[in-house]
Amino acid sequence: MGLDIGSGLIKVVVIDHGKREPRITKVVIVPLMADAIVEGEIMDPGIVSEAIAAALVEAGVTTKEVVVAVGGRDVIIKKIQIERVKEHQARELMRWEAEQHVPFDMESVELDFQILDPDATGPQMQVLLVAAKRELVESKMRVLGEAGLEPSLVDVEAFALHNAFALNHPDALTGMVALLNIGHEVTNINILDDGVPILTRDITVGTRKFREDLQKDWGLSLDDAAALLQGYDKTKALDAVVAVRGEDIIAGIDRAISFLETNARNGGALRTMFLCGGGSRIPGLDDLLGQRLGIAIEHANALGNLHVMDGALDGLVADEIAPLLMLPIGLALRQNQ
Ligand SMILES: Nc1ncnc2c1ncn2[C@@H]1O[C@H](COP(=O)(O)OP(=O)(O)OP(=O)(O)O)[C@@H](O)[C@H]1O
Ligand SMILES: [Mg+2]
Repeated sequence: MGLDIGSGLIKVVVIDHGKREPRITKVVIVPLMADAIVEGEIMDPGIVSEAIAAALVEAGVTTKEVVVAVGGRDVIIKKIQIERVKEHQARELMRWEAEQHVPFDMESVELDFQILDPDATGPQMQVLLVAAKRELVESKMRVLGEAGLEPSLVDVEAFALHNAFALNHPDALTGMVALLNIGHEVTNINILDDGVPILTRDITVGTRKFREDLQKDWGLSLDDAAALLQGYDKTKALDAVVAVRGEDIIAGIDRAISFLETNARNGGALRTMFLCGGGSRIPGLDDLLGQRLGIAIEHANALGNLHVMDGALDGLVADEIAPLLMLPIGLALRQNQ
């Protein structure tokens, strides 16, 4: 069971790993009350754990084990090179290495790492280091505990997005492509070079800001504004808001791309950008991104290569919710080691 505690929507995806191919057996999406999570921080743990518990009841699952993820600015992902040593020695070295690479107080972080080239023999080895502020992990644990759940694994959001994307878009794993996940509060950009994630950044714009602009600047009610963002039609108000807020997203993408141009091995020429997240459904936003960035835009399909069991999407419209499911599917794809 993958659980994505988004700031706008809580998503539960259950995957059966019993057969040769993973099969989705249940998807549940429940809204979260406004301001329960702000800028990635859980402001009201009671409301969040109640919403999770309600989602579990709706999903009809009895398992207590769940995969969740942490992300945002309190998580650092870094590829480093160190002298080649055995795994257990690497574990001892890592705290010292992390001190050089992670701008957090070492007393208050959770660290993990993966040797990326364990079979190579050179004097140096590539290591992927992840550090997360302990408070971030612990606050998530508390909320899960209150909802009666036990996390079997705490993933990193960027990795889960990448895993679901790679399964559904194997064709996109050559050259330089980007995955843009436009959420309620945050837009994450992940850039892959031949399928290897080389850059991940958060842009603090999501559907919430689009909706607030429609309310403030155009006098729409909350419900009308929300409906417009999830609909299929363009209006004058929507076009105007997309033009302004879209530029905020483009500015963030430009920053990421210029970082690549100075750091990536082939100058960072992006081939295609794939969109996901609730914000990817905003009418006209895809066209704006394509025009302004001058690259091909495609909509990623989180369900493209997965078998969905009958009844798994009861009451949901597949095309309208698939864009929201990239992260929770990536979580549910993880199996316990
Ligand atoms: N079918 C849908 N049902 C509900 N909301 C939708 C739908 N399609 C698009 N949306 C929009 O997408 C938003 C939620 O997107 P998403 O689930 O990607 O964000 P989140 O994960 O909750 O937020 P974040 O990642 O920023 O914490 C909603 O706030 C709404 O504006
Ligand atoms: Mg999200």
